[in-house]
Order: sequence, then C-alpha cells, then structure tokens
Amino acid sequence: MQKEIVVSGIRSTGFLHLGNYFGAMRNYVRMQEDYECYFFVADYHSLTTHPDPKDLRNNVYRVLAENIACGLDHTKVALYAQSDVPEIPELYLMMNMLAYKGELEKVPTFKEKVRQHPDNVNAGLLTYPVLMAADILVHRAVKVPVGKDQEQHLEMARNFAQRFNHRYQVELFPEPHAFNFGAGGAKIMSLDGNGKMSKSENANATIYLNDDDDTIRKKIMKAKTDSGPEAPGSEMPDYIANLFQLMQLVSREDVYNDFLGHFNNCTIRYGDFKKQLAEDMVQFINPIRTKALELTNDPARLQKILREGAQKARESASRTLTEARKAIGLHYY
Ligand code: TRP
Repeated sequence: MQKEIVVSGIRSTGFLHLGNYFGAMRNYVRMQEDYECYFFVADYHSLTTHPDPKDLRNNVYRVLAENIACGLDHTKVALYAQSDVPEIPELYLMMNMLAYKGELEKVPTFKEKVRQHPDNVNAGLLTYPVLMAADILVHRAVKVPVGKDQEQHLEMARNFAQRFNHRYQVELFPEPHAFNFGAGGAKIMSLDGNGKMSKSENANATIYLNDDDDTIRKKIMKAKTDSGPEAPGSEMPDYIANLFQLMQLVSREDVYNDFLGHFNNCTIRYGDFKKQLAEDMVQFINPIRTKALELTNDPARLQKILREGAQKARESASRTLTEARKAIGLHYY
C-alpha cells in the first residue's frame, strides 16, 4: 500500500532545545518508518527577517546536523533545504494568484509580526502562509506534524488546495491536516516554572541540545523547587511536576518511581533528586551534542545529504508542477 505523505518544515533560526526534541523531533523520528516523509529546512521563510548570509548558511548546517543527531535518517526521509527545490517558489507564485490580501492580513501570526516589527512589513511576511502551503502541497501531503500555533496556516493551505482544485476543475491537491501526536508530543515547561520551554526567554531555564555537560548540570541544579511536600498525598506544584516529567523522559523507570515514592511520602530531597536528573540528562544529551558537532565539522557530508535530499524532493515536486501547469493552461509544447 502507498504510504501517506508527510511534510514538515524546520525553522532554521534559534537553537534546538528539549521542548523541540520532546514536542516535535522525537515524533519526526517515529514517523520516518511509517510514512513517506519530506522534512526540510525552511530557509526561504527565514528571509523575512533578512539574516546575515553567513549566519543563514551556518544555521542551516547546524539545524540539519542537530536533526540528524536526534535520529532523522536521510536514507529513510527526504531531508532537504527549501531553496534547493525551485518547484516550491513556482507553486507559491501560482497560489499567490488565489490568495487574497484581505485574508492574509487577518492571519494572527502576521498581525503579531506587524505589531512587533512595524518597520519591516514586507510582502514575504504577508504571503508567509502561501509559501507554507506551497511547501506542503508541492508533495500533495495529507499530514503535517506541527504545533497548535500553526493550525491557522494549515487551514489556509486547505483553502488554497480547494480553491485551486475548484478553479481548474481538477483533483490535484488533497487537503492537508495537522498531525497530532496525542500523548507523544510532550510539552516541556521552562525550568523557572514560567511558561513553555519553547517560549522561554530565559536561556538559563532552557536546556539546549548543544549545552555542554556542566551547563546542563548547572541549569538543572538551579531549577525552581521548594521545601518539599508537607503532608502525604500533597498535590505536586507545576515546577516540580515538570522536573518529574523530565526525569520520566530521560531516567530509568525504577529511578523515577523511587523519587516519586519519596515525594509521596514526603521524604524527597530535592538536591539529590536534581543531581540524579542532571546526570541522566547529561547522559541523554551528550551523544546528541557530540554527533551534531561531528556533522557540523564535516560540511562535505552535510552537503551530500542536502544534495540527495533535494533530488528526492524534486522528483515528487516536479510531478505535481507538471500537473499544476497543465491544469492552469501553462503548457505549450
Ligand atoms: N511555519 C512553520 C513554523 O514556524 C515552519 C514551516 C514552514 C512549516 N513551512 C512548513 C511547517 C510546512 C510545516 C509544513 O514552525
């Protein structure tokens, strides 16, 4: 049976942290066996903020290396840079003719950017959802693993797909839907107890996949705790529950159960608890960091992966564009 097609874009800005790992990447890794996956670094999208060319290039290499280090296997999925697939901007141009200024201006993420950066409201920012739709529709994907913040963009992709099909009387584009991981997509809170780790503005409360061993230890030892529960069966405060969640994700089950027992009977010592969590976290992140570093130090290898990925992606994308051109009437010989 034909596998379902999955597309997801990886932002090339910012450093990957535990929130990204347990919220998204771990699920990409699980999906690569059961779906036909297209995962790409969204370098065109990053141009909305005019990054320095050297930074852009290094960020793309780094984010690619980190994703591979976390388990993405380029022999199982198409792993590529968006800008290496010219069919994407071509479909984006076609879809722009079906996207209305009014609907684009209403998108919450656009309005938020306008509020934050009123001096850089460029057309690329306005049409960001059209480019994202092209990313997805170019492979005729049906599943898109994204977070809640991207649901609106996905709804627009469905609209553009329908509009195209309807205008040109074809059934070229299926409707893409968000892929929800359910319990698989864990939310990781910031170590200071303020909000999600992904939204954290406090680098000391976020564990990055490139943090060295001592930095990881320091951050965990500084995580917010209190004097401990006073009566058996006390409710666990959020910031403690978060540390237990992390322990469940990176420590052995018996270790986790042991500390949970100590919490429940009020004999927990948070110093010991955090020391154990810190060591297990170091064991967890160290191999990822080492692998990512090995890859970033070997650009030839990353370039080869990117080239192969682009080739795979273009095979699928060019089939779609042939159909799209035909539907529109853009075919002359
Ligand atoms: N907009 C997504 C984000 O900010 C990244 C992205 C770009 C994407 N194109 C995509 C995600 C296509 C899924 C599919 O995270």
